[in-house]
Amino acid sequence: MKQPYSLEEVQKQYENYPYPPRDPNDEYKRLVMLYANDLHLINHYCFKGELSIPKKGEGEPFRILVAGAGTGDSVIEFAEVLRDYNVEVTYLDISSASIEIAKKRAEIRGLDNIVWLHESLLEIPNLNLSKFDYINCVGVLHHLANPLEGLLALKSILKKDGAMHIMVYAQYGRVPVYMMQELAKRINSNEANLQKRVENTKAILKNLPDRNWFKISYKRWQEEIKTDIGLYDLLLHSQDRAYTIPQLYDFIEKEGGLKIIEFIGNYNRNKIAYNPASYLPKGELLEKILAKPKEEQQAIAELIAGDMVKHSFYLSYEGEGSIASPENLELVPYFRNLELKSFIINNYKKFKNSRVKLEIKGRGYLELEFTNEIVALVEKIDGKKSIKEILNEIGKDSKKYFKSFKKLYYRLFQFELMLLKSKKFPLLLSQKQLQKQFLEKYSNRG
Ligand SMILES: C[S@@+](CC[C@H](N)C(=O)[O-])C[C@H]1O[C@@H](n2cnc3c(N)ncnc32)[C@H](O)[C@@H]1O
Repeated sequence: MKQPYSLEEVQKQYENYPYPPRDPNDEYKRLVMLYANDLHLINHYCFKGELSIPKKGEGEPFRILVAGAGTGDSVIEFAEVLRDYNVEVTYLDISSASIEIAKKRAEIRGLDNIVWLHESLLEIPNLNLSKFDYINCVGVLHHLANPLEGLLALKSILKKDGAMHIMVYAQYGRVPVYMMQELAKRINSNEANLQKRVENTKAILKNLPDRNWFKISYKRWQEEIKTDIGLYDLLLHSQDRAYTIPQLYDFIEKEGGLKIIEFIGNYNRNKIAYNPASYLPKGELLEKILAKPKEEQQAIAELIAGDMVKHSFYLSYEGEGSIASPENLELVPYFRNLELKSFIINNYKKFKNSRVKLEIKGRGYLELEFTNEIVALVEKIDGKKSIKEILNEIGKDSKKYFKSFKKLYYRLFQFELMLLKSKKFPLLLSQKQLQKQFLEKYSNRG
């Protein structure tokens, strides 16, 4: 089928500049793992904490699609993390140069649980694919002439109880980028050679006056424009749009018929950055703002922050209803950071009956109360016992202890320091353990 012009142009870019720049041989050095791909977070936010993935050779496969998978970071991560489980990871991209790099990475790692599709995601309705449990589509929809068509194509192959992770650009933080894109378009208007476009743009970048907005915010972009691939993606893209919060809700919820579960990611991509209380002092003005609908609060937070360049979020049919709840007593609470558990237990005597403010780097302050109840609960939270079992073991004042548990849980969950899972959740290896396991397997093969 003849593709619309803009898709051809986008395809040409990613054939010449496969993104992100990756050398397959780096697989021997490290495993790339991304914040929102953490299955602990996916389980908690998207599957009510009830996700269970069967072991290899058992049950039905857990089906993951990475749409616009590029040079393969997310595909490799999912396939590696779930190597011993019954999982089918589908790679889909229009760029054959990208697929080659991703395939080489998978080959080096000896991964055999990936299905490779060299296709446009707009063709999904014609591909006769079975439905997916989880779809990752990061940095892709904003490059389509009609992003809604792309979103609806993905929705058509999402299971009703499945979920997605999408990242699209954010408008305000990228204002300097759009100025530079406009500039690059004008200086390259008659230039067909992509590499010449890159060189022309570099020449301009070298000569920007200090008061230019891109130069003022240079720190934010410098990592990206270090490589020609990154520079092309940021400043020379032929098809690129961004969203403010209200535009995002219109796109995903009103037009797309899906619901945002939560914003997810590091630093200013985390839900905390979307909360006006992270910026404003307690008082009348903040109270007024917090009385507004969540969407409006987030729109205000985006404008206060001013520096958001991406919106990264989970979505599903149920929206917030997909998040694990501490009211489900069968779920198992666990610390994502065991040092915090030790800190609470070891400092109990020192801080008894007082409140302690702990700084969570880049995110804000966690207030903890060192009461008898909290410490008794923390000691019992071991990642194995369910909430019900913990309350039974404590044996007395269940209502009071449950109330304290919820208070503790919500404080920690705000920073994603405590999550909930079912007893059937797979035992996952850490990044370090996975890389060690791969290198051992590799040296045995070789
Ligand atoms: C910025 S890259 C992101 C790659 C990857 N998702 C990541 O985050 O590392 C965008 C990718 O989307 C792919 N792409 C663009 N339009 C597409 C389409 N219509 N169908 C499938 N892939 C597409 C490009 O080829 C490119 O690999």
